[in-house]
Amino acid sequence: MRFPSLFVTRSCEAVHRLRQSSFLSPGSALSRHQRVSVSSLLCTEERSYYITTPIFYVNASPHLGHLYSAVIADCLHRYKLLQGFNSKFATGTDEHGLKIQQAAEAAGKDPLAFCTDVSERFKHLFSSCDISHTDYIRTTEPRHRRAVEHFWSVLWDKGLIYKGHYEGWYSTQDESFLTPSQVGDAVDSSGKEIKVSLESGHKVEWMTEENYMFRLSAFRSQLLDWLRGNPRAVQPECFHQFVLQWLQHDLPDLSVSRQRSRLQWGIPVPGDPEQTIYVWLDALVNYLTVAGYPEKHNQWWNVVHHVVGKDILRFHAIYWPAFLLGAGLPLPQTIYVHSHWTAEGKKMSKSLGNVVDPLQRSQMFTTDGIRYFLLRQGVPDSDCDYTDRKVVKVLNAELVDSLGGLLNRCTAPGLNPAQVYPSFCPQSFPREQGGRAVVEDYCMLAAVKDLPAVVEQHYESLHVYKALEAIATCVRQTNRFVQRHAPWKLDKRDIKDQRWLDTIIHVSFECLRIYGTLLQPIVPELSNKLLSRLGVQPGERSWAALNFLPSYRGMECPFEGRALGPDSGVLFSRLGSQNVDQQKPNKAKKAAKKK
Ligand code: MSP
Repeated sequence: MRFPSLFVTRSCEAVHRLRQSSFLSPGSALSRHQRVSVSSLLCTEERSYYITTPIFYVNASPHLGHLYSAVIADCLHRYKLLQGFNSKFATGTDEHGLKIQQAAEAAGKDPLAFCTDVSERFKHLFSSCDISHTDYIRTTEPRHRRAVEHFWSVLWDKGLIYKGHYEGWYSTQDESFLTPSQVGDAVDSSGKEIKVSLESGHKVEWMTEENYMFRLSAFRSQLLDWLRGNPRAVQPECFHQFVLQWLQHDLPDLSVSRQRSRLQWGIPVPGDPEQTIYVWLDALVNYLTVAGYPEKHNQWWNVVHHVVGKDILRFHAIYWPAFLLGAGLPLPQTIYVHSHWTAEGKKMSKSLGNVVDPLQRSQMFTTDGIRYFLLRQGVPDSDCDYTDRKVVKVLNAELVDSLGGLLNRCTAPGLNPAQVYPSFCPQSFPREQGGRAVVEDYCMLAAVKDLPAVVEQHYESLHVYKALEAIATCVRQTNRFVQRHAPWKLDKRDIKDQRWLDTIIHVSFECLRIYGTLLQPIVPELSNKLLSRLGVQPGERSWAALNFLPSYRGMECPFEGRALGPDSGVLFSRLGSQNVDQQKPNKAKKAAKKK
């Protein structure tokens, strides 16, 4: 059996064409071109949404990849809240298993104390990075043990678990069983020949044990039906195809326990204390635990979405749905898959000393800075390379120069001495030709009007970077709009010039209001600063409140004449070269110090 590999750094992005914003020529009524977004149709009744991150192993400190999983889920959670959903967002730590047992032993610590220590580090990272989870689960909690025991018993009662004999390869690092075709030859650092997982490269060992098996083989056709009937179940599309290809092959039954003598750090099999439940079955149930399983999970379980890295796709898109089918529970609505970050072109690893510390980077570049960079540069379909230099370049170009520059220009006391949201003058910028606006200005209005729908579509398919690209393009258009009309050259003593000046600022503010609102899931603090400066109140920042440039359509604009917020500080401070010297492998740093 040969599995297609996910570990090839190349883009397999499906061609995803969005409907282009139609060119809005002078004379065409904007309202005719309005597209009603899905969200605005749905926002009358309360809807629920449940998003999860993978739970993180506590055998080592958090790294940038972990923060990436969390930031993606946080972005989706915040986006759903903006759309009026009642959203639950769970993250947490995966604390059982051989890997953790060994790490605690190596540290000479009691396993629970060891787990608590590292789990707290994850919690601290997440609170430092504005991860707004509503639940934080640890698999060592009693509520989780109850859920796992119940889940196991349901599968057992249905005859889906049987006592058997497992003989095969096991990777402790991945906590994963492998078939012979998933294993290859390699040589370790001491020159010894070893067997490794072809997918992860981690060492595998031959294992032969009496344990419990789950009838995974019985679910192959149901899994295929599910995927074929729900083409958006696994996103982006290329990962959906991977799972379908995996399912073309036989699906052997899965060992779901380990002998207690080998693995003590885990939940004992109900009714058989000689066996410990397999850590992946234990870990996957965390999603149900948070939903309130076994008593009151329905509200959330029907609307669950998982964010996972590509390395754990098989567990989430094959094992987990099979377990759920076995237990008679609904399957996840979407499994969002992301690829990996490398550092300076190499896989991050402790031995190379190139693991990027997310907490340190969030302090160096600010929370919003690192969030923006990860979501702007992270392409879910293919691996991305992290360098500090790139962070500085992207943030300076897009947050400092483009967005910050636009806000600065339009709020400058020279142009806006009254510090208000000025009025729009329909004669200067009419729906029909004849005012001072030119064709490019109408084009910009059309693009900004369409932007929420474009962003929505990209958020929904996890192409957040495309949403950010679309926003950045519009910000550039607005900057060009201001540049083109050079309001600083207008004669403020002339009433017509003054009205046109006000209109330029009004339109720019309206654009900035849309950008600030749409950016809230990505850069919450910066958006708050931007919207507060524009005088947009917290209750006016939802998706439903977007309503771009109502004055242009003859409607009342609630912001007109309002005082601007008092904080006139820079939106995002320019980063300098001092920020790019951090990223040196430990060995190189030590050598540099010696000199
Ligand atoms: N404990 C399991 C998940 C159980 S979920 C029921 C696990 N933990 S992990 O700590 O190893 O990984 C957690 C997440 O971090 C995964 O989504 C993984 O893909 C992600 N990342 C780990 N390294 C990564 C990169 N270098 N880049 C991006 N994300 C990566 O797996």
